[in-house]
Formats: sequence, C-alpha cells, structure tokens
Amino acid sequence: MNPADMGDDLERVLLTEEQINTRLDELAQQIDADYAGKDVLVVGVLKGAVMVMADLVRRLHNSVEMDWMAVSSYGSGTKSSGVVRILKDLDTDLIGRHVLIVEDIIDSGLTLSWLLANLRSRGPESVEIATMLRKPDAAKVEVDVRYVGFDIPNEFVVGYGLDYAEKYRNLPFVGTLAPHVYSA
Ligand code: XMP
Ligand code: MG
Repeated sequence: MNPADMGDDLERVLLTEEQINTRLDELAQQIDADYAGKDVLVVGVLKGAVMVMADLVRRLHNSVEMDWMAVSSYGSGTKSSGVVRILKDLDTDLIGRHVLIVEDIIDSGLTLSWLLANLRSRGPESVEIATMLRKPDAAKVEVDVRYVGFDIPNEFVVGYGLDYAEKYRNLPFVGTLAPHVYSA
C-alpha cells in the first residue's frame, strides 16, 4: 500500500521508506557491533513490531533467535494505563540470555517499562530495547532505550506496523491520517 492508494486518507508522510531503510542499516550495524560474539534473543512485541523485527533481523550478520510476545494495556480508549496483560508469552527461557526487545513505538513508555521489569525478573544476562519510533513529548516514565530509530512529534501515526483500527499496518512509510478518517 502506497500514498497513491490512500485517496485523501493520508494527511502527511512523516518518514519515507528510504529514510526507514537507511536508519535500519545504521541500527543493524550498531547492534551487530554491540553483540559481537554473543547469542542474542530478539523479542518482538506483537503486532506493531512485525515490520521492524523482520527488516532489522534480516540486516544482522550475527545469528539470532527470535521470539514473540503479545501484550495489551488495560485502560480506556487509546491511552496506555501501564497495567499490562500478557496475551501471548515467550516460548523461550530467558535465564542467562541476552535479550533485545524490539518495539514499534514508545509513547508514554508505560507498556515498555512494565515489559522490561517483567523480562528482567526472569533471570536474563542482559535486556536492551530497540524501537523504531519514540515520542519524547509523550513520555510519562523514563525508559532507558539503547536503540532508537526516530524521535517523532507527539501525534498519532500509522504505517510500518502501526495501525488505526487494525488498518494501515502495511504502509511501507510512517504518516498521519486526515481528521475525517477518525470521525468516520
Ligand atoms: P505506551 O504509551 O505504553 O504505549 O508507550 C505504547 C503502545 O501504544 C500504541 N501506540 C500507537 N499506535 N500509533 C499507533 O498506531 C501511535 O501513534 C501510537 N502511539 C502509541 C502502540 O501499540 C505502542 O506499542
Ligand atoms: Mg505495540
């Protein structure tokens, strides 16, 4: 799906496919260097992180294992509450592992700080975070994130894995939606 396929639903493109790909190359290089000689377990957070996970691991030269978690934030509407429920847990034992969490976006940081504490309690050797997007102005808790693709304004974005009502995940770019989409 491309800008031309979106009619007037697209407000503007925030990050192009080219910008995303260039940044992925840089992040992969950094991750390879940081984890040289180590076995890494890359943990993707469903569903939003599917794109960044797939694109990032294909750029890594180190061999990695992949696992997935699905979590949902309790709370009303679209705001994260920090109270998190595990919908799908990892299949992998974390004891002694180097874990790299891969996220699509960090908004308030509440979901991720819960996830971080949860995974750290399972006895891993290390836990770090890679996120494609971060909204610094939305942060409610400080989360130490080792790898950040882009800091973006505090606006609701879709594409590259991110949805509005489960749509637009398949956009290869990140953008904002026209107001009429939300009021429909
Ligand atoms: P918190 O606030 O806990 O929430 O950091 C992170 C989760 O909220 C979702 N989220 C978004 N989803 N466009 C989206 O499609 C956005 O702009 C957006 N901001 C937050 C997302 O599921 C993320 O993992
Ligand atoms: Mg998510």
